[in-house]
Amino acid sequence: MSQVPANQKADSPVDNSKRTWLIATGCAGAGGVAAVAVPFVSTFKPSERALAAGAAVEVDISAIKPGEKLTVEWRGKPVWIVRRTPEQLAALEKITPQMADPDNKRTAYPTPGYAKNLHRSIKPEIFVAVGICSHLGCSPTDKFQTGAQPSLPDDWAGGFLCPCHGSTFDMAGRVFKNKPAPDNLEVPPHMYISDTVLLIGEDKKA
Ligand code: FES
Repeated sequence: MSQVPANQKADSPVDNSKRTWLIATGCAGAGGVAAVAVPFVSTFKPSERALAAGAAVEVDISAIKPGEKLTVEWRGKPVWIVRRTPEQLAALEKITPQMADPDNKRTAYPTPGYAKNLHRSIKPEIFVAVGICSHLGCSPTDKFQTGAQPSLPDDWAGGFLCPCHGSTFDMAGRVFKNKPAPDNLEVPPHMYISDTVLLIGEDKKA
């Protein structure tokens, strides 16, 4: 099984059949607003079936610390794995009224049943999502720092900002109301092989 470097970039242009993954900094309005630096922290490797295009990818998540995000590539798309802090999880309920689709009812990018919950994930602390905005396909920027800052409200509780047209998402990838993006961030099929290894691209129903 071959190893793939951990620093697979989430900001490389890739064509895919569903949406075009654009370089976030190439989008209008990116404006050089720096995100909090969150390093790539782990390794991932293709599963046995990854030799075929579109196969699932195994990801070792053991090195991701609370508040950090790992990005891997699956089917040419960036997939984010975030280990949320207790504070980030606690904020989700409070801001639910500000969400456009808190119950995951929209069907453009159906949320798997196992992620149809407040935290949109299997384990509360581990969030897995495709890092592509549901508006026009830019890759949103990490905005994990809370509080007032450019382009965000004063009571910002942490999440993601799409620099292209200003859509904002919370730490569960839920899109805020009255933003250009119509849908929450996509949760890809995934499952745990062990406590520390995720399989992205397959779930128990696959
Ligand atoms: S592409 Fe994200 S807001 Fe337009």
